Amino acid sequence: MSGPNTSYDPVRVAALSAEEVERMRAAGVAAVQGAGSLEELKAVRLAHAGDRSPLALANREIGALPPQARKEAGMRVGRARSEIATAIARRDEELQTEQERRMLLDETVDVTLPFDRDPRGARHPLTVLQERIAEFFVGMGWEVAEGPEVEAEWLNFDALNIGSDHPARTMMDTFFVDPPSARTVLRTHTSPVQARTMLTQPPPIYVVCPGRTFRTDELDATHSPVFHQVEGLAIDKGIGMSQLKGTLDHFATAMFGAGITTRFRPSYFPFTEPSAEVDLVCFVCRGAEPAVDSCRTCKGEGWIEWGGCGVVNPRVLVACGVDPAVYSGFAFGMGIERTLMFRNGVHDMRDMVEGDVRFALAFGSEV
Ligand code: DAH
Repeated sequence: MSGPNTSYDPVRVAALSAEEVERMRAAGVAAVQGAGSLEELKAVRLAHAGDRSPLALANREIGALPPQARKEAGMRVGRARSEIATAIARRDEELQTEQERRMLLDETVDVTLPFDRDPRGARHPLTVLQERIAEFFVGMGWEVAEGPEVEAEWLNFDALNIGSDHPARTMMDTFFVDPPSARTVLRTHTSPVQARTMLTQPPPIYVVCPGRTFRTDELDATHSPVFHQVEGLAIDKGIGMSQLKGTLDHFATAMFGAGITTRFRPSYFPFTEPSAEVDLVCFVCRGAEPAVDSCRTCKGEGWIEWGGCGVVNPRVLVACGVDPAVYSGFAFGMGIERTLMFRNGVHDMRDMVEGDVRFALAFGSEV
């Protein structure tokens, strides 16, 4: 604040003239009214009502006026400043109201919209596919059989003609269950359910057994230590390779549609004789000719293995109490993951085991 000015210079206090004060007041009020937002109003307040605003600066000069002029100039400036302050308060209120109104509009919730308070998960496509496979066989008059996941070593191996010194025993990377004296394993395939069924029901037998199986494999794009198979067993009079082939072709058509190419490749399993592996044409490169060496799914083979099958070895029939002179049969075991991969173009096994609900949701409740 300037102190009383003895050497009064009217030029220096021209800012206090009635016209000048009126001009500053009018400019201030106009700026306030022009403020379109609270932010803008903040800047206007600083410019027209702040400590360094023209009116505040003019106010400092009042002391320089002769005493008789001070009162008048003081009132003039005071009135102008209070008018601006009032305009600011009014505009502030208007802008606040407007902002609240806009916020309410923006945040409007339409309570009549349909909602899903508890988003539901989805059944895992492997589960749905197992059921679908079972239904397919039930439709042909077969039954569904089940067996335990912790299985007797004898049923998992010996009953299936895999003796304790048989190489197949070490080839199936087995999880053994403690204590060793209990001679139990996590079943390495669903084939022990064949033995269980023959031991508990007389022929004719037509059973299918989808279930979980275990091997000491590392998880990667094509392997998982926990996977699923579907086992099939038919024991009756006069049953052989041709019924097997017919059944599996029918099964393949049900799974993959008409026209899907399959091939039987001679193979070996201790529990079947003769044995074959069933291949499906690779679902990625479609068995392109010449072979696509870079195809990671079939490694350039053009085919992927679907499962194994064969005519039940008479030694298995004997071990399970079925007379091979009267009965014969066929059996097969298919990978369910492979079936899903092929059917639905799933390229990585890990997607099936990671438990991300988005993977399952993509299938809906049907596969
Ligand atoms: N158990 C075999 C495996 O896990 C698959 C298999 C092959 C099952 C031939 C069968 C069969 O029933 O007859 O590799």
